[in-house]
Amino acid sequence: MAQPITLTVNGLPKTVTTDPDRPLLEVLREDLQLTGSKCGCGEGRCGACTVLVDGKSTHACITTIGSVAGKSVLTIEGLASGDKLHPVQEAFLAEGAVQCGFCTPGMIMGVVGLLNQRPNPTDEEILTAMDGHLCRCCGYPKLLKAIRRAAHTGRKTP
Ligand code: FES
Ligand code: FES
Repeated sequence: MAQPITLTVNGLPKTVTTDPDRPLLEVLREDLQLTGSKCGCGEGRCGACTVLVDGKSTHACITTIGSVAGKSVLTIEGLASGDKLHPVQEAFLAEGAVQCGFCTPGMIMGVVGLLNQRPNPTDEEILTAMDGHLCRCCGYPKLLKAIRRAAHTGRKTP
């Protein structure tokens, strides 16, 4: 049964009246028109839907909207500061780590989540953290270079 659910999305308070069991990804895309987060597998295996919930990488496709009530959700749309891209976005651009772009928002949010927890990750920590992020264009070499660059210049995101 629909009920009002209040949360913070990209720094702004939002209230949606909906079934609390709906996936966060569906609410972001369909109710809040935030379509940057993509639906790949829909079952927590590809990382395309990754957002940050209270600063932690989260698969929005398998997270219910009810479970994020009162929490802070950051999507790719909220990452830049005005015209200034986040250092992770800059790193992806600098390394040309984007092909079709479908995986890119989830990859970037995954990297931001990693850097929130490990500001200076080793290659092994990068590979472990990003293991669940799939790129159907197989752009992994450039992605790794971008993540290394981002780790070099990244900053903590709330
Ligand atoms: Fe969420 Fe694949 S769409 S992990
Ligand atoms: Fe196409 Fe990764 S750039 S899926």
